[in-house]
Amino acid sequence: MSSTPSLRRRNGVLALSAAALVTTFLLYLLFHDSPLYPLDKVDLTLRFPTLSSAFRSSSTLPWTRPILPDYCSPGSPEDFWSTRYTEENLSMARSYSGSGTRFRHLVEKAMRGEPVKMGVIGGSVSRGRNSGTLGPYHQRIFRFWNTTFFPHPENWLADGSRPATGSSYFSMCWGEHIPQDVELVFVELSINDYRTTEAASIWETLVRSLLELPTKPTVIAINSFALHGRNGIRNPTLPYLLANPALEASLFGSENGIDPKHINDVGHQMVADFTTHWMRDEICRVMSERDVPPGSVRKVEDNWWTEPIDLGAVPHLRMTEQWRKVNDTIPSLHPTCKSTSSRPPLQPSKGEEWYFEEAPGDKFYWSASKPGAKITFGLDIAEGRVGMFFLRSRKQWLGNVKCWLDDNVKASKLVEGWWNKDESVSDYVALWSNVASGKHNLTCEVQTTTKDPGGGHAFKIIGLATV
Ligand SMILES: *[C@@H]1O[C@H](CO)[C@@H](O)[C@H](O)[C@H]1NC(C)=O
Ligand SMILES: *[C@@H]1O[C@H](CO)[C@@H](O)[C@H](O)[C@H]1NC(C)=O
Ligand SMILES: *[C@@H]1O[C@H](CO)[C@@H](O)[C@H](O)[C@H]1NC(C)=O
Ligand SMILES: *[C@@H]1O[C@H](CO)[C@@H](O)[C@H](O)[C@H]1NC(C)=O
Repeated sequence: MSSTPSLRRRNGVLALSAAALVTTFLLYLLFHDSPLYPLDKVDLTLRFPTLSSAFRSSSTLPWTRPILPDYCSPGSPEDFWSTRYTEENLSMARSYSGSGTRFRHLVEKAMRGEPVKMGVIGGSVSRGRNSGTLGPYHQRIFRFWNTTFFPHPENWLADGSRPATGSSYFSMCWGEHIPQDVELVFVELSINDYRTTEAASIWETLVRSLLELPTKPTVIAINSFALHGRNGIRNPTLPYLLANPALEASLFGSENGIDPKHINDVGHQMVADFTTHWMRDEICRVMSERDVPPGSVRKVEDNWWTEPIDLGAVPHLRMTEQWRKVNDTIPSLHPTCKSTSSRPPLQPSKGEEWYFEEAPGDKFYWSASKPGAKITFGLDIAEGRVGMFFLRSRKQWLGNVKCWLDDNVKASKLVEGWWNKDESVSDYVALWSNVASGKHNLTCEVQTTTKDPGGGHAFKIIGLATV
């Protein structure tokens, strides 16, 4: 019995592929025989709960059709997705659906009556800028989950979003924003990351380190869409926006005119609907597989591509790596982001003339102000990136430090604390990005040089980030 669900699942996948092939064939015929728009004529609706009926034999054994929630019946009033959107814009909203394995395990857990812990990693869209009174997309998804899918008094969602923050910060510091026992994570960074291979690789580091958590969480990448730039609900909405640019206001309108970076209430609802629609498909799949009529399981042909395999495993090869690295062991990522206000706070392994400073307003620093003062921190690095958070200000007699790793003083970096701006804030500097994996010592030394016109030499370290 234990292996049959996956077999059935594969039946479903095959049936879907067959349906897709048939559809392609139909489209091919239509394209060839007529100048009509084929999509106007073909019903592409994948009525998957009824798909399994194709496998139902006319067995005489007693079987009661499982009672599925109404939202599983296509076209029912609860299937609001099919009336609010067309089949095309629903499928265009999914870039890659994945195997759904981890999510279906989560669904099984929720079906056993257990609560689900969700988390959000994202920028200002997730923070809710321009999202209206119903709040950002993740609150809408959570409410839907907690009222329609799997209500539970202990379901919760940790909103770890931070405005104007992208993958380079979160890949190291997500642990400071969402708890480690999270089971479902929404990652929304598409408008804060750049479209470069390096940015994609850093995004992958973030997602991998989430996937490596012992809870084996599901990660759902939510791609927002900005008129300014890049990407997600861009696919289903762009054709309409291009055909009628005045629609900008329906998707990006705010009290102050068009907000080119932040989708509004309409966009947040679309993101929520597209996500719950995918969840609905997976949930109904799990529920309809639980109880199928006897004799309805058709075995897939034996082949290497039909062997059972753990599709929830973290792939052993990164997106950007060559196949020849397939046998190398990828060190498991353990991003750290420790600050003077973490619990326990960041601790040096050595420090000469540096001290732990408690400044007014609950601000904490590792501080020094004498040129030549040195501080060392032990680091454990997997992927090779190290960065530092430190205070920048015009007012606090700030100077410079030089930092290096181990004895590699030649590759040292100068970091300047003083700046000519009114704000006194924590700033971040990426120090190195190609450090060999393993243990290292980071040393920083206060310099005699300074940019402070008052000649200050103080330096205040707030945190260190590594991955
Ligand atoms: C989730 O729904 C339950 C009722 O089923 C409610 O008690 C609980 O407060 C809700 N959780 C949140 C975080 O809103
Ligand atoms: C989805 O498609 C329908 C018609 O095909 C259209 O009226 C609607 O505006 C589309 N939705 C979006 C978000 O583009
Ligand atoms: C990986 O290692 C196995 C055995 O250790 C070997 O048979 C296989 O050829 C290797 N694959 C590659 C791509 O190097
Ligand atoms: C880091 O410093 C400690 C002493 O504080 C030393 O034992 C260790 O070998 C150093 N590690 C490296 C990689 O240099």
